[in-house]
Formats: sequence, C-alpha cells, structure tokens
Amino acid sequence: MNDTFLKACRGEKTDYTPVWFMRQAGRYLPDYQAVRGNVTFLELCHTPELCTEVTLQPIDIFGFDAAILFSDILIPMEAMGLDLEFHEGRGPVFPDPVRDRRAVDALIVPDPRETMPFVMETIGLLRKELRVPLIGFSGAPFTLATYLVECGSSKVFLETKKMMYRAPELYDAMMRKITRCTSLYLQAQAKAGAQALQIFDSWAGILAPGDFRRFALPYVQSIIRDLREVTDVPIIYFANNGATLLDLSGTAGADVLGLDWRVNIRDAVSRVGDHALQGNLDPIALFLPEKELVARVERLLDDAADARGHIFNLGHGIVPQTPPDQVRIVVEAVHRYSTR
Ligand code: CP3
Repeated sequence: MNDTFLKACRGEKTDYTPVWFMRQAGRYLPDYQAVRGNVTFLELCHTPELCTEVTLQPIDIFGFDAAILFSDILIPMEAMGLDLEFHEGRGPVFPDPVRDRRAVDALIVPDPRETMPFVMETIGLLRKELRVPLIGFSGAPFTLATYLVECGSSKVFLETKKMMYRAPELYDAMMRKITRCTSLYLQAQAKAGAQALQIFDSWAGILAPGDFRRFALPYVQSIIRDLREVTDVPIIYFANNGATLLDLSGTAGADVLGLDWRVNIRDAVSRVGDHALQGNLDPIALFLPEKELVARVERLLDDAADARGHIFNLGHGIVPQTPPDQVRIVVEAVHRYSTR
C-alpha cells in the first residue's frame, strides 16, 4: 500500500508530497459523465458498484495518492428523514425547510449501518481494490444546517442566521441532532474501513469569528472528541474561506487543516504549524498555461516546505470545465518537484 498520504497526515517524513483533489471524481471527467449519463446523481450515490467505479477513475487515470469515497455530504440528511432532490443547474434542494420546533423534533438520529448500508458497502468494495488510502467524509454540522434551513444553497444565509440570532435554543437543538448523526456516521465509516476522515465546512467562511466560535466550532470539536474514542485515523478539518478563522480552526482537534487558496500556506504554517496542512491551489489556476501552472505548483511546494506535513490539494473542489490534462500536469509536477 502507498501510505504516503497517511504519513503526511501524521506529520511523518515522506519520500514526496502526496496529492489528491477535492471533487476529483466528477463531471470534468468523461469517464464520470459516461456513468452519470445512465443514472441520476442520487441513484449513483445509492449504488455501491457505481460509487466504487467513479471513486477509482481518478486514481487510475492520474495516480492520486488518496481516494475519496464517492457520495455527498447531504446523504445522511436523507437518513435524518428529509426529502432531498438534486436539480440540474441548481444543486441540492430540500423542499421542506427546517425552521421551527416541529421540524427539529421530527429529525431522526439514524443508525448509519441500517439507513446508509450502501455507503459502508462502497467502503468495503473500495478497500479491496485500492492501493492508496481511502478518505471518508461528512459535512460539518453548520454547513449541513445551512442546507436544511435555507432549503438548499444560499447567498446571504438569512434564515440560518435569523435562527441563530433569534432562536438560539432551537438552533442548538437542531445542531445537537445533526452533530450526533454526523458523529455516528463518521464512526461507522472508520469501522467499515475508511483510513482518514475529512469534515467539510464549506460555508464556515460566512460567519464572523465570534459567531463561528459560538455556533459552528463546538459541534465540530464534539464530533472529533467522539471519534478519538473509537478510532485513531487522521482527521482533516476543512473550513472553506476560513483564513480569518484559522486560529480558531486550530482548536477543532483535527490532525490536518484544509486550506482554501485565499491564505498563503507559509502564513498558515506560522499560525497553525502544529498541524499538517492540506491545500491550497486555486482551482481556477488549472486554467493557466502549462509553464505558469507548473511554476505555481512549485512555488506552493516551496511555501509549504516548513509544514509539519503537507498534502497537496486544491483550495476547493475542481470545477467541471477543467481539462483533465491539466490535472495530470499538476500531479506529475507535485511528484517530480517534491521527490526528496
Ligand atoms: O470526488 C469527491 O470529492 C467525492 C464526492 C463528493 C461530492 N460532493 C460529489 C458530488 C464530495 C466529497 C462532495 C461534498 C459536498 N457536497 C460538499 C462539500 C465540498 C464543497 O464542495 O464545498 C458540498 C457543499 C456538497 C453539496 C452539493 N453536492 C452541492 C452544492 C452540489 C451541487 C453543486 C455541483 O457542484 O453540482 C452537489 C452535487 C455533487 N456532489 C456532484 C458531485 C460529483 C455533481 C452531481 C452531478 O453529477 O450532477
């Protein structure tokens, strides 16, 4: 097994810098489009053989150093009893908002093995095939809550913030249920064979630091505390758009902090250098001409040279318009330039 990624997560010396991309399985790949052409996104998420196939595609094509389970952060919200739809061009939609006591009381804290057996089955299938580590994942409670309260994606997060500010007890009751669900879900993934776990806090960056500390961070800390009791797999916390939250994120309890591209990684080393760091190329840098792209990759690797462990990644998910050949250029450049 190629365990370079796991070593870097633990801050151990590696022969080269490991690399994987957020959303590495997805629409930029013709191979993914071919599978997705026959099924809806949710059908894909519910079918272990297909999830296994699309998880493996980018590993086989580009030689990434880690695989990430193909699923979606919103799948456990279905298990909590909510209707979830994906609309072409609009993303996820929850037709029934969670905004009052009745809706919060109706939320189920599910047994993940009973309600999401297809996820555990996918993990089992992948572990038989993979020669690189498998990352499991979840959304962070705050990010998940925004989708439930806003009925999907949002720009100003009016309803979520209104709930936080005007009905904090209701907000906390909802968050406790989402947190418990997420905790059990990640524990089940580790038990099924996930070798690292990433918590995606995609919307953390819309919060003022004081609100992040009060309304988002404690729930992440609680999940990580629960995980530490049952597993020692590395835990990655990615707070997107989180440069101003970095010092607080450092108290989440994770082994690795994921960085978006708005922060210089050298700066991050000076602030949270007791963690391994993951990131943080601007996903749109993949549209640079080859020479400039490679130069950027090399500069990023230089900036991360003093990190306690560096896992090369994008600063957020790869966009569907990305030419696959540009991905190959980055993976090869990371491996070549970082080989010690
Ligand atoms: O390769 C991987 O990274 C693993 C699979 C994965 C998906 N979603 C597949 C997906 C992972 C880790 C996610 C996480 C996810 N899902 C996040 C956190 C990461 C982030 O991007 O901030 C969030 C916020 C979601 C919710 C979500 N899922 C949205 C907002 C959308 C629609 C927007 C979009 O990109 O289309 C999705 C759909 C989705 N999840 C797709 C994929 C491949 C596209 C679905 C399709 O094939 O049409």
